[in-house]
Amino acid sequence: PRPILLTRHGESADNVRGRIGGDPVLSEAGEKYASKLSDFVEKRLKTERTASIWTSTLQRTVLTGRHIVGFPKVQWRALDEINAGVCDGMTYEEIKIDMPEEYAARKLDKLRYRYPRGESYLDVIQRLEPVIIELERQRSPVVVIAHQAILRALYAYFADKPLKEVPHIEMPLHTIIEIQMGVTGVQEKRFFKFS
Ligand code: F6P
Repeated sequence: PRPILLTRHGESADNVRGRIGGDPVLSEAGEKYASKLSDFVEKRLKTERTASIWTSTLQRTVLTGRHIVGFPKVQWRALDEINAGVCDGMTYEEIKIDMPEEYAARKLDKLRYRYPRGESYLDVIQRLEPVIIELERQRSPVVVIAHQAILRALYAYFADKPLKEVPHIEMPLHTIIEIQMGVTGVQEKRFFKFS
């Protein structure tokens, strides 16, 4: 059986400051995670003849995967983080103060709420469809290095979680979720605390 390894990028400078979106580089802790992730992947996929590393087009995911060598890397725009539109680069606190109606609307229906000039979780789920089709087609392991909202949607698909739960699934940093698709269904293992 071929595993799919899901992980968020290493902690970014914006994660530290609580800012959403953007295209930041990694923090020191995030860099450490990138090294640990490469050790982990190397060990875990040692016996595999082929595998591939999928990232988004944002540098925090590309940087997180950069120490992993020996496997082809693919960048998917469809794996980019949810587009926060006019709120890109803000903290949740700033949104709450500057755009209270937007903040309240998102809180009320996080699944359907669409950021002005940005996306909703439903939009994200839709744009991930080609990625999911391609993932299911793969015969060798895939390491997916992506973002919080993206991984919530991907994980929910494989773990068969209801749509309304997607925006609320816990998806911590520096954690690897391994999904195995076997004949008896989907099995999951988690590896925590890499930094
Ligand atoms: O804070 C990191 C982040 O990836 C943001 O870029 C993104 O807007 C957010 O998480 C998505 O999580 P939530 O839907 O809970 O705001």
